[in-house]
Amino acid sequence: MADETSIFIGASRKPDDSYQRAEELLLRYGNRHGLVTGATGTGKTVSLQVLAEGFSNAGVPVFCADIKGDLSGISMMGEAKDFLVKRAEQVKLAPYQFQEFPVIFWDLFGEQGHPIRATISEMGPLLLSRLMNLTEAQEGVMNIAFRIADEEGLLLLDLKDLQALLANIAERADELSARYGNVTKPSVGAIQRTLLVLESQGAANFFGEPALRIADIMRTTRDGRGAISVLAADKLMMNPRLYATFLLWLMSELFEELPEVGDLDRPKLVFFFDEAHLLFEDAPKVLIDRVEQVVRLIRSKGVGVYFVTQNPLDIPEKVLAQLGNRVQHALRAYTPREQQAVRTAAETFRPNPDFDCATAITQLATGEALVSMLEDKGVPAMVQRTLIRPPSSRLGPITPDERRKIIAESPVTGQYDEAVDRESAFEMLQKKAKEAQDAEAQAQQQNSGGSRWTIPGFEDVLGTGNRRSSNRQTVAEAAIKSVVRSVGSSVGRAIVRGILGSLARGR
Ligand SMILES: Nc1ncnc2c1ncn2[C@@H]1O[C@H](COP(=O)(O)OP(=O)(O)OP(=O)(O)O)[C@@H](O)[C@H]1O
Ligand SMILES: [Mg+2]
Repeated sequence: MADETSIFIGASRKPDDSYQRAEELLLRYGNRHGLVTGATGTGKTVSLQVLAEGFSNAGVPVFCADIKGDLSGISMMGEAKDFLVKRAEQVKLAPYQFQEFPVIFWDLFGEQGHPIRATISEMGPLLLSRLMNLTEAQEGVMNIAFRIADEEGLLLLDLKDLQALLANIAERADELSARYGNVTKPSVGAIQRTLLVLESQGAANFFGEPALRIADIMRTTRDGRGAISVLAADKLMMNPRLYATFLLWLMSELFEELPEVGDLDRPKLVFFFDEAHLLFEDAPKVLIDRVEQVVRLIRSKGVGVYFVTQNPLDIPEKVLAQLGNRVQHALRAYTPREQQAVRTAAETFRPNPDFDCATAITQLATGEALVSMLEDKGVPAMVQRTLIRPPSSRLGPITPDERRKIIAESPVTGQYDEAVDRESAFEMLQKKAKEAQDAEAQAQQQNSGGSRWTIPGFEDVLGTGNRRSSNRQTVAEAAIKSVVRSVGSSVGRAIVRGILGSLARGR
């Protein structure tokens, strides 16, 4: 497989509709990103399937979301259905061979695949604020919460930890406001309530450990094929914000963890982002800027990102400009917005004198697309009307039994299936509260029974009854801090990781 340098996508057609030539994606430009667009039912998912198959065969691991379950067929051998065989002949795909691909199923809810988890600190304040749709003021409080966790060595792993931290912050609101700026009880309360909503939507499963190890989505098989990680996203789509946040998080993790590699003969990983409009809908500008930044920079880590969406207008211009490999399926052009989309889509291609791009986009058949891949020197090729090849794996969904079998045989079986709950902020804050309480009780005891003597002006040291509790708390805190400091460095690292979290905090 090492001699492969490209992925066969389909065959372009001359103006008289006869065969012109094979259209291919050059693997060495696979990290220059891509875009698959088109109206409902025009062939986007099949094009994604064909690309994923090609990357896997070339030894490139793939991560993709399966919105409707119909991508799961990629794990099964295809069948010689008439229309597929006919399409194979049209595009001169000979021999047309069937194949099943090495698939790992994942599911944030742990039902249709191995659970995927991330810790709260990995997620970072920016993504969390977006996930919870916080106001600017609330986001400010969230940033402060992360800073406090960072400084006080509180591990934020799951929702419980964040809840405990927020409760603690609410109690200390005045003290913290003086130190960090506005931390009001109502804004903390609002975040706490949003957290409850998030929990009721099932997000509690997602936050915690064992967190996903990036290496597990970068596997290859012994025969040199890239694993295809398929994320079950049908249920996830009911919470689009969680979906978008998760994929953003994954992208930023990849960015943080992978080394710079420069130009490679093929990508290290390819990431398909289906229903990509969800990523940008109502997204604050700062987030769009971050996405743009991650997409731009992740290229040099050997990661290709392919956005799949109905309408190219869904993608902000700055991001669009970075998507080199384009597959544009048919668009409708009834409403003004649709006509605008057709024009925009047409204008992004290097024109072909043989046809008018905008007209062609409205006339493409199912499984046909305007294709422009990067060619020599990374320049976009002249756009071609292209029939997309049929997939080698099954078209359409697999059965629940087939899925269970693949999950049971996967290389990560047993690794993520059970959640673990190690000591983190929740437990630490509980302990801290208890210590403070014990100290208080002890002091009370000393004060009442132990001694009736005191030295005026030194009550604080001796722990007499009229002392304010804040001082004693500091003592307890100091004790906790010193314990915690020993693990502090690793905690700090976890918290600042993630470009989307760390940059938002001005690092
Ligand atoms: N390259 C192809 N070869 C053969 N048949 C194809 C091809 N592409 C699409 N088709 C046919 O068109 C159908 C619809 O394609 P697909 O599911 O990819 O559309 P889609 O754009 O993803 O739609 P949606 O927006 O609803 O998800 C497929 O089930 C298949 O029958
Ligand atoms: Mg589809």
